[in-house]
Parts: sequence; structure tokens; C-alpha cells
Amino acid sequence: MISGAALIAGVAGSPVTHSLSPLIHGAWLTAAEIDGAYVPFAPANFIDFAQGLRGGAVRGLNVTIPFKEDALSLADEADDLARLAGAANLLLFPKDGRILARNTDGPGMLGALAGQAPGFDPTSAPAVVFGAGGAARGAVAALTLAGSPEVRIVNRTFARAEDLAAELGAVAVADAQNALAGAGLIVNATSLGLGGGPGPLTDFSAASAGAVVLDMVYKPLETDFLRAARAAGLTAVDGLEMLIRQAMPSFEAFYGQPPPDLDVRALALAALEAR
Ligand code: ATR
Repeated sequence: MISGAALIAGVAGSPVTHSLSPLIHGAWLTAAEIDGAYVPFAPANFIDFAQGLRGGAVRGLNVTIPFKEDALSLADEADDLARLAGAANLLLFPKDGRILARNTDGPGMLGALAGQAPGFDPTSAPAVVFGAGGAARGAVAALTLAGSPEVRIVNRTFARAEDLAAELGAVAVADAQNALAGAGLIVNATSLGLGGGPGPLTDFSAASAGAVVLDMVYKPLETDFLRAARAAGLTAVDGLEMLIRQAMPSFEAFYGQPPPDLDVRALALAALEAR
């Protein structure tokens, strides 16, 4: 139940119907008995929609595909990661009329690593990122800001890897097996493996023992990429953990308190399985 004083936030995307964010935030709101709501929006014109929220009718928005770049462009202030990634997944609308942009995808990735690969240290060895789209850009930016000694980008279209590497001070590597040598972290930020099927890499034999492998794809939860990594004895970190971890700082920014201790992972898994 919500009152007339309820705190309202939501997620904007197109399409937004498959977003798990309303389920996750809604479960936290209920468990914490907060007078608030979290709702999906699929605005026809995202920029006009977000501009209209100046002043705080809505406390904030998570922003997903395809609006993350637009979200950054209309902000009056942005955090370092949003600027470096060129994208924001969180907008806040304080009462003073400003729009603040943040990127919690990077903290989400680092949080998932801390949760499922305890002891992982991003500063200790190079990282490999597969992909050169928006998700890869966010991962490269986050790892760079986290102090990675070298971020290697591998992509089907090598020119895109080179462009991204030049922009973010990373290194484009044409051969995936060469990229793996000595890496402490290997990330799939391509769309490969979504809905099943092979990921960007099936052979992890060139990876160092002890390397951590993260897949941003979370449907299926156990992707071929993670299965191959586990079979090679490496530590696997899944995309659902990253999704949940990026939601945590958003919740706190919207509702003024950290999310309650609740197993949203089980709820999200059940929702994914029901689809
Ligand atoms: P997003 O912004 O979600 O990251 P994107 O910009 O469409 O999405 O990027 C998708 C990524 O998956 C790209 O790195 C793409 O490789 P290309 O740059 O060569 O297109 C990668 N990708 C998608 N389908 C692929 C496939 N069949 N084989 C290899 N890479 C693929």
C-alpha cells in the first residue's frame, strides 16, 4: 500500500517489458515496508519525458537500452564513470531542478566479482573484455577506473575494438587466445550466448589458473561461456549477480536507505524461468 506521500522511482527503456528491475525494487520496497513505488516507463520521447521530471515529481529513474547515452546528455552533473563510459543508467531528480547522472553498472560488475569471486583484485592483473558496444564500453571504463593495469578489448569487428581502445586508453587485441595470457579477469560484454548458444570463447586453455570469468548475459544464467570457464577450472561470475548489484545503489539513491536483506536472486531466477 502506498500513500499520497509515496516516493516514486522507475525504469525507462524501450522495450521495458522484460526488465527485472520492477520485480527487484518492488520486492525490496515490500520487505522494507517503504512508502514507495517503482514502475516501468516506455516513453515515446525519452528526452522530453526526463526533462519533464525536473523538480522531483519522480525521485529518479534507472535507464536502460536504448536511452543510456541520452540520459547522460541531458544531465547537469555526472559521476566519473558515467562520463568515461559515455552512458548513465541512473538519473536523479532533486527538488532544485537539476538532473544528476550516475553509472551503477560498473559498481554492479565489481560488486558481483566481490560476491562470487571473493579475493578478486582488479589491480593485480590485466583484464580482457569481449565486445565493443555500450556494455563493453561500460566494462572497460569501470575496470580502468578500478585501477586495472591493462584492459584488452577483443571484438569480431576489430576496428570497433581499436576505436574503443583508443578512446579509453585500453588495448585492442585481434587474437582471443593471445589476449587471455596472464589475464586475471575475462568478461563477455557481447550479446553472444543470449537465449542460449555459444559465447565469444569456448577454449579457456590459454587462461591463467585462478582467472575469473564474468558473463553479462543472464538468460540463461549458466551460459556456454561460463560453463566452459568452469570446466577449465576457472571461477565463474554470472550476469544476474551483476544486475542485482547495480540495482542496490540505485535503490538507496531513490529511497534513502540500502535495500533490505532479501533473496531477490531467487525471485529473479523464478521470473526468468517462467518466461
Ligand atoms: P550493446 O550496446 O548492448 O553492447 P551492441 O552495440 O549491439 O550492443 O554490441 C554488441 C556486441 O556483441 C558487439 O561487440 C558485437 O560485435 P561487432 O562489433 O562485431 O558487431 C558483438 N556481437 C554480436 N553478435 C555477434 C556475433 N554473432 N559474433 C561475434 N560478436 C557479436
